[in-house]
Amino acid sequence: MLKFLTCYLMPLAFMGILFAEEVSPKDRLIVETLTRLNRFDVSGNEKWKGAVERFARSQRGEEGYFELVEQFSVEAELPELLRLVQENPAGGRAAKAVQVVFALGRHEKLSSLLASGPGKKADAIAVLISFVKTPKAEKLLERYKALNVPSSNPGKGAPAILSTPEDIKGLAARVGNAEEGKAVFQKFCFACHKAGTIGIDYGPGLSEIGAKLPKSELIIAIVKPNAGISFDYEGWTLETKQGSFLAGIISESEEELTVRMAGGVSQTIHKKDVAKRTKMEASLMPEGLHLAMSEKELVDLVEFLAGLK
Ligand code: HEC
Repeated sequence: MLKFLTCYLMPLAFMGILFAEEVSPKDRLIVETLTRLNRFDVSGNEKWKGAVERFARSQRGEEGYFELVEQFSVEAELPELLRLVQENPAGGRAAKAVQVVFALGRHEKLSSLLASGPGKKADAIAVLISFVKTPKAEKLLERYKALNVPSSNPGKGAPAILSTPEDIKGLAARVGNAEEGKAVFQKFCFACHKAGTIGIDYGPGLSEIGAKLPKSELIIAIVKPNAGISFDYEGWTLETKQGSFLAGIISESEEELTVRMAGGVSQTIHKKDVAKRTKMEASLMPEGLHLAMSEKELVDLVEFLAGLK
């Protein structure tokens, strides 16, 4: 009997899995049609909701996945987003996932990830949250900072030696290891800057920054991002009529606004859905990134940047 069951039912179960994983052309058609019609709220229609969920699942790892999940608010992908954040918090996909978790309004899940810290992973997740720049993100971070001192910076990190212009001059005179600096870049800067072939194009490109800024100014750009904000990269906060917040760089057409966020995800919304638009005083580049680095990491990073010409 058992043998019969396994012979007979196993292939069926297996086929079931195969079918569940495959995107049916019908699901794809439904999602494409809804997108064309700007119908992103599918909560009232089980058939649409199912199609969107199956389609989103099939798009994991593909281009456009994060935008899809964000646009249709696909709650069912939350576990996958959190998995991406935890798997490699220093990667670009994690930065995008964090943005989408905030857009879904499920940031309480991130505070549970932070609560498992302090540790390198929790610190890295806190860095990603500092990219988001919405009031909710700031609040979450404040709570985290109040409870934790960055663990990778036990006492004698970069901030202590950066109190005066002489300190910066001293640091600029040092020679670091550019190869190791590249790894620092991939950890802290990757989600917003492109340097040669690595990184995401969100803030200004840094492929030739070594020809533009001397080491001392590179240090200042990192340590005091608010000292001078590059034209064309000013940040805006948007509040939608549904009560969600977005922060990033805005481009607009007659009827729509597109907000591009750190990590490179963008979201387009109808102007009629915008309740409030506020220009940010501060840079979109988070202050205090260097606080999570050691002094050596900062010197190596500056060496790497100085060599980009
Ligand atoms: C969350 C996104 C974000 C992260 C992370 C980030 N930056 Fe930036 N950065 C920006 C934005 C946006 C600007 C432009 C606005 C400004 O000037 O403040 C900028 C400006 C700069 C500039 C000035 C560029 C110029 O052409 O004058 C430098 C240099 C720079 N960043 C280096 C870094 C380095 C190094 C790191 C990593 C330690 C880093 N940034 C991390 C968003 C980011």
